[in-house]
This record gives sequence, structure tokens and C-alpha cells, in this order.
Amino acid sequence: MFCGLHARSYSMIFEQIPLGSMQNFAYLIGDEKTGQAAVVDPAWDVSIIEDIVKRHNLRIIFIIDTHHHHDHTSGNDELAKTTGAKVVGHAASKLRKDIAVKDGDVLQVGFLEVRFIHTPGHSPDSMSVLVGNKLMSGDTLFVGECGRTDLPGGSSEQLYDSLFNKLAKLPDEIEVYPGHDYGAEPHSTIAYEKAHNYVLKPRTVREFIQFMKEP
Ligand SMILES: [Fe+2]
Repeated sequence: MFCGLHARSYSMIFEQIPLGSMQNFAYLIGDEKTGQAAVVDPAWDVSIIEDIVKRHNLRIIFIIDTHHHHDHTSGNDELAKTTGAKVVGHAASKLRKDIAVKDGDVLQVGFLEVRFIHTPGHSPDSMSVLVGNKLMSGDTLFVGECGRTDLPGGSSEQLYDSLFNKLAKLPDEIEVYPGHDYGAEPHSTIAYEKAHNYVLKPRTVREFIQFMKEP
């Protein structure tokens, strides 16, 4: 059993792809054994993503949106057209999608299990995507920061629940891969964020809502 798990972790291809003028990150998740892959948050220049996919000789079967905002999804249609991949979004997203997921759902990419954690707050449809020990946290959690809640559909109360009751309760060793390159490093871990991210300092919901109102 242990050997099986070990072998599976070796078959994962993972790329963090910087894109566009808003410091976005897209992600490529691939299963080396089957050649199946998923792209998280394709936007801006899709050809950059396609070149990396080609280099790894992968076939995109899912396009996954961490949330509906344009800077994470503007490449959906183009990539779906060229690959035939199905677009996956949270059920609360109003964007065109082929598969609507909710908290706890899992999709299979080859041997890889892609798990969805609904983390609303930045937007109602925000979700984080967990594959192996890698968490793609969209605009919910950044390295050293969190997403804003003052855009339409945003909620500091919901973001509190998503950050403190969902993401901060994941195992310490889970690696955090955010939707934007806003931190000192492009990625970190849950342990690092709990220790160093000022947003995750212990606060009550009321204190957190007040904190989010401050400039
Ligand atoms: Fe966003």
C-alpha cells in the first residue's frame, strides 16, 4: 500500500505558471503515467500554458476555475476549444461550465485525486483545489496576505470561516500555491502561513470583520 502511494506521488507533474500584468499564477497538474492533466485558472496568454503542456506531452481534460474573476478565467474558452477539456467551476459560479462542483467533491486526473474545498469570502464561488500535498488557494489565501472582500459578493464573515475553519486546519506540511504572486515567495506552506501571515493571527469573527475594513 505504501509503495503504491509513493509511486503515485512520483507520477505528478506540477507547474506554477506566472501570467499577465496582475501577477497571476495558473497551474498545470499532470499525471505522468496516463498523460492526463488539468489547468487551474487559465487566463492572459494561453499560448504560454499550451507550450508547457506540450513540453510535458500531456492532454488537458479539465480546466478548473478557483473563482469566476476575469484575471483567472479569460482563457477558459480558448483552451476549451483547442483541447476539448471540460470547464470545472463551483456551483455558485455563473460562468459557463461543464461540471459544477461543491465542497468535498473529487475529480480524477489519471491517478491523481483533485479535491475541491469551498472557500467563499473573496467571492461566493471561491474554492481551493487540493492535489496531493499542494493546495491551490486562488484569491482566498496568498503568501502573507488574503484576498479582498470588498468586491461584489465578497464577505469577510465567510472569508473568516474559509481561512480559520478550513484552510488553517489543513495539515501543516500542505504547500500553498496562491492565485497571485503577492508574497515574499511564490509559494509557502500552511505551517508558514499560520506562523507568519498577519491575516491568520487569532481573531474573533467580529475582530476579523473589523480588521478587513481597515486600509
Ligand atoms: Fe479574484
